[in-house]
Amino acid sequence: MDMKSIIITGGAGFIGSHVVRLFVNKYPEYRIINVDKLTYAGNLANLKDVEEKPNYRFVKADICDFDTIYALMQEEHVTGIIHLAAESHVDRSIKDPFTFARTNVMGTLSLLQAAKLYWEAQPEKYEGKRFYHISTDEVYGALEMTHPEGIEPPFSTQASSEHHEAYGEDFFVETTKYNPHSPYSASKASSDHFVRAFHDTYGMPTIVTNCSNNYGPYQFPEKLIPLFINNIRHRKPLPVYGKGENVRDWLYVEDHARAIDLIFHQGTVAETYNIGGFNEWKNIDIIRVVINTVDRLLGREEGEDMNLITYVTDRAGHDMRYAIDSRKLQAELGWEPSLQFEEGIEKTVRWYLENQDWMDNITSGEYEKYYEDMYKGR
Ligand code: NAD
Ligand code: TYD
Repeated sequence: MDMKSIIITGGAGFIGSHVVRLFVNKYPEYRIINVDKLTYAGNLANLKDVEEKPNYRFVKADICDFDTIYALMQEEHVTGIIHLAAESHVDRSIKDPFTFARTNVMGTLSLLQAAKLYWEAQPEKYEGKRFYHISTDEVYGALEMTHPEGIEPPFSTQASSEHHEAYGEDFFVETTKYNPHSPYSASKASSDHFVRAFHDTYGMPTIVTNCSNNYGPYQFPEKLIPLFINNIRHRKPLPVYGKGENVRDWLYVEDHARAIDLIFHQGTVAETYNIGGFNEWKNIDIIRVVINTVDRLLGREEGEDMNLITYVTDRAGHDMRYAIDSRKLQAELGWEPSLQFEEGIEKTVRWYLENQDWMDNITSGEYEKYYEDMYKGR
């Protein structure tokens, strides 16, 4: 299959930068074109180590700009698209749902239509082409805490598999009905439907994957883990929504990037794959681990910053629990997470503490002001 010219959208963001880095380094024979609008979440500092590579090109563009994307596809003879560009933060979507509909829905549609018109005009049509859409587990809605009393996360992979056997429909599987609750997840669900519709209607070779919460280096510090690492360092309050009992399923970002590589090359067209590490944690438990780790690495007494925990008004429509069953991907393509959570969180905290300049550049006055406005009244 000729897949030498690949557009990666959102490559200057958190997950996108890891995918770009992996592809640029692993496939020197490919041409990797990073298309990113550089919104507040896009940061070219995330890609400093690959920007000089001959197989890499950055194009500052909005995915909603059909003409620019179509012209770029013609110019670069694009054969593959890995689509990560999105508005990605639930709290922002609650404040400003229009931006989410614009980028996540209209932007995805614009990209699909550009790919359709360009690929259908080629003599070989869709042969050797791939449109790979990166989505989230949040489209499935929320799971209840269905484990019996006394059996509570965090769970090991082994325990999760056993729970799955014991309690049945306890995880999101690829056929779980979509039931999004936030404007963010509603916009992602809508974009997933458009991608599948382009396969069913026009025969475009599409793939969709739905992944659980990612963590690791280069994540924008509005998301739980980098925000809290930075706040602990500066001894600022840690705003825990509600009782801190919501459960998320955490995957190290490089394991997600490895899954994307595998699925892009070996996944079956029109299929959906769930990606997750069987690694559920209650927010409050993960926060305690992060506090202990930051304290230890900064030479403070472990746990001395627990008093920063500040319970605040819950997020509106806050989904109780996400938990991914990724056994299809494991069985069909042999993927599995490479890092245990303890290793991953240690690496992550260490990275943020060693890259304080990266963090300081982001936490500018303007960003702080936006953040303060967002949490006014909580
Ligand atoms: P992010 O917010 O860190 O990065 C998004 C990137 O998209 C930024 O570089 C931004 O500049 C770019 N972008 C935004 N609007 C654009 C537009 N109109 N045109 C071009 N570029 C635009 O997001 P992330 O956390 O890296 O997530 C990437 C993708 O993975 C998203 O589609 C998200 O829904 C999905 N996802 C994220 C997670 C997670 O835990 N972060 C989990 C599962 C799925
Ligand atoms: P987040 O990183 O925003 O990811 P998502 O909402 O996509 O899961 O939040 C992870 C969890 O942490 C979620 O249950 C909300 C909670 N949370 C807080 O309690 N306080 C915070 O300041 C943030 C950003 C999140």
